[in-house]
Amino acid sequence: MSKTVEINKFLEPAKLGEWNLQSHVAMAPLTRCFADLDTGIVGEDVVEYYRKRAADGVGLIITEGIVISQRGRGNPGVSGLYSNEQIAAWKKVTDAVHAEGGTIVAQIWHVGRLSHHELTGGVAPLAPSAIQAQGDVSRLGKPFSMPEEMSEQDIQQVLDQYAQAAQNALAAGFDGVEIHGANGYLIDQFNTDLTNQRTDRYGGDLKQRLTFMKEVIRTVIDVVGTKRTIIRFSAMKVDNLAYMWEDPEQAIATFMDAFKEVGVTNIHLSIVDFTQVVANGMTLNQLVRKYWDKVIIGVGSITPQIAEDALQEGLIDLAAIGRPLIANPDYVHRVKNGMTLEDYDVQQLFTLV
Ligand code: FNR
Repeated sequence: MSKTVEINKFLEPAKLGEWNLQSHVAMAPLTRCFADLDTGIVGEDVVEYYRKRAADGVGLIITEGIVISQRGRGNPGVSGLYSNEQIAAWKKVTDAVHAEGGTIVAQIWHVGRLSHHELTGGVAPLAPSAIQAQGDVSRLGKPFSMPEEMSEQDIQQVLDQYAQAAQNALAAGFDGVEIHGANGYLIDQFNTDLTNQRTDRYGGDLKQRLTFMKEVIRTVIDVVGTKRTIIRFSAMKVDNLAYMWEDPEQAIATFMDAFKEVGVTNIHLSIVDFTQVVANGMTLNQLVRKYWDKVIIGVGSITPQIAEDALQEGLIDLAAIGRPLIANPDYVHRVKNGMTLEDYDVQQLFTLV
């Protein structure tokens, strides 16, 4: 990836399924914790934050993780998509984005065990197995609670909540849904051996552990349609950043088989460094492309140059940008005009610009 290519394709409009996007720039999902602490309702500041990115020319905005139920909540200030008031508030965001020519999908989220009972309504967080996570809940500063192992009935209830959240996303005017199946949250807890020690049909080898994820995907696709559904997945976990599958290529092949089985079109692989070689001389995205000929969204410390190269090579179909879009509300404008980008700083998380 050392050659210098002019930044063209990254900024050109993109057509993905039913979406006509302003550019090949996607905004990565970024939790900001600016919703009302009690109600999970977003306000005018959040409307303005997303409107600005659409006005700037971001092609596909993937929202911050929006929880599908109170028990799915993992930080104070996260937004929800399970009450009428929450839906009405998100409708203001989607209206503002559409008025600027933007496209926006809701990332629907259940954190599973990565929570504290104060956030989940006084009950234990849910998880595939009763294994407590190490560390503290960010923005709460209390250790993760011991979760409760999900019964078959709990699993069915959560699947129903995913279906309802997908319906609510459409009611709120979203152009689609991204299922948050990555980074160590509920779906990924099922996918991973360390957090899933079940002996029923939701546990076992990797193929078997992907059962819950497949059921969620089927449920959401039934409501939203495959062209408007994205599944985000990963090896890494927020509570275990270095986690990698034992055999990355085999794992990727297993994930792709699962996605094909349930009729997925759009996938989004979450990694910290897009260019990192992980196995057999290849990056994770190169491995994914080997087994997947449909839409891939790439992410992970992607610069405009890395994005341009990867798009031109056909390695990815959209490049998602996270932290630089927090630091630069006018990111696309700056790239287009060869301007310097502001560096990201964690302090920027405490204001919404
Ligand atoms: C994230 N990320 C993230 N991922 C996700 O799937 N849902 C989310 O809600 C969040 N929230 C979030 C908040 C903050 C403050 C950061 C920094 C990251 C991960 C994010 O989408 C992205 O994958 C990474 O930030 C890597 O991309 P960049 O930042 O290197 O472009």
